[in-house]
Amino acid sequence: MEKIFIFDTTLRDGEQIPGACLNPREKLEIALQLERLQVDAIEAGFPISSPGDFEAVKTIAEKVKGPAIVALARAVPKDIEAAWEAIRKAERPRIHVFLPSSDIHIQKKFGTDRTKQLERGLEALKYAKSLCSEIEYSPEDASRTDPEYLAKVVEQVIAAGATVVNIPDTVGYAVPQQFGRLIAYLMEKVSDIDKIVLSVHCHNDLGLATANTLSAVENGARQVECTMNGLGERAGNASLEELVMAIKTRKDYFKYFTTVNTQEIMRTSKLVSRLMGMPVQANKAIVGANAFSHSSGIHQDGILKDRSTYEAIRPEDVGITEHAMVLTARSGRHALRQKISEMGYDFPEQEFEAVYNQFLTVADKKKQVYDDDVAVIVQDVIFAYLDDSKLYSLESYKMTTGNGEVPEARVRLRREGVLLEASAQGDGPIDAIFKSVDKIVGAYHKLEDFQVRAVTETKEAMGIATVRVAREGFRALGRGSSTDILEASAKAYVQAINRLQWLMLRTSETHHSDNGLSSK
Ligand code: KIV
Ligand code: ZN
Repeated sequence: MEKIFIFDTTLRDGEQIPGACLNPREKLEIALQLERLQVDAIEAGFPISSPGDFEAVKTIAEKVKGPAIVALARAVPKDIEAAWEAIRKAERPRIHVFLPSSDIHIQKKFGTDRTKQLERGLEALKYAKSLCSEIEYSPEDASRTDPEYLAKVVEQVIAAGATVVNIPDTVGYAVPQQFGRLIAYLMEKVSDIDKIVLSVHCHNDLGLATANTLSAVENGARQVECTMNGLGERAGNASLEELVMAIKTRKDYFKYFTTVNTQEIMRTSKLVSRLMGMPVQANKAIVGANAFSHSSGIHQDGILKDRSTYEAIRPEDVGITEHAMVLTARSGRHALRQKISEMGYDFPEQEFEAVYNQFLTVADKKKQVYDDDVAVIVQDVIFAYLDDSKLYSLESYKMTTGNGEVPEARVRLRREGVLLEASAQGDGPIDAIFKSVDKIVGAYHKLEDFQVRAVTETKEAMGIATVRVAREGFRALGRGSSTDILEASAKAYVQAINRLQWLMLRTSETHHSDNGLSSK
């Protein structure tokens, strides 16, 4: 079994996506998570591109231990100097120099010829090597470069001191067999290629980035460049989670391994998605919301009998602890009972029937019933048995806000016939309302999730707010609706707090496990 080195470029190629710009603190947070994921190299940025990126790369180089910290540079001295300045304190610094090698780029972008371009690359590489011992060299647009010339470039950069040579499919033009043959050709033609690590960097314009990368691995590449969630320029890069899980799941075929801690994959994916503001498509391989959910009744039945029937990858291997099964009206009592028992609830027969009936009503309307829906149904049934005079209800709210003013809310709640009132300022009107409610209740609640959506598309749309709050290890959901989204949000928050308080009370009587509803 040979090791495949994982080079993560989420913070460089991934960050090139318009609007996905990260501040240095966010870049560090992702880099620390990549350290936990145990990638072999983190391309932390392109230091010459902006003072912010320089700072981010420098901080990552100082704080992240384990992986090589890589900084990108064009083949010009000022880029190489900035790259080196940013990473010199890293445990394992690496400068990554790139320069196009295809005729299209050489002629159209540089207006020069192959010989001069190669001289330029070698000169830059030697300068980088005088500063840093680990040097990666990328002939940009390699897959559209004349293979004979490419082999010459690779041979000469190895002779000049490159320790890693990367073959980029810059425009996502390659197809698997052909790209594999290119790698095999280089392995055969280039002397001393066994002295360096041959790398590939595939873009996904034809949706072939993962396939091209794996084909390159089968033909001799030992470093793969990739990003979390497949983010990157245009259609993105080969996705880290797909490559790593393909190699792990099909070790019978590939005979390679990586040292990535796959159980950190989901956490990393979520962090990257949240900080970059790039939602992951539901059907995305490995990390999409539906990647491990089973909706057909036949599949669900199979999964309940033996998970290997419909699961080639174990969800816990990528860090998913709860088993996601999307229920439908056809799922039946067995699947629903299993789901709510995974959530830590054990209902007596009569209450379970109430849950089941409500579940059927929701399933009729929605077709697919997700964990959050089941959570709401379960809570609704539990609350049907509750003495509601003990609950808080929203009486009214008032808001003072305006341009350049700090919003202030005054909220009135009623409980057991008593009117309770508090006011608070906040970062925004909703924050001010939630803080006022916290004051009345006398406890701080962590807001874990908050969403508002319009039910119709008119100006008078009904808004539905959903919140998830946490306190002392317990969690609860709340929903509220109104044509006024502030009121809908206030109602949702109050409902979540009622549920949370009740769950905290009920814990002494009933056992609850960690299920997204309540936990300890
Ligand atoms: O796609 C590409 O060619 C690159 C290089 C800088 C490696 O991102
Ligand atoms: Zn790229």
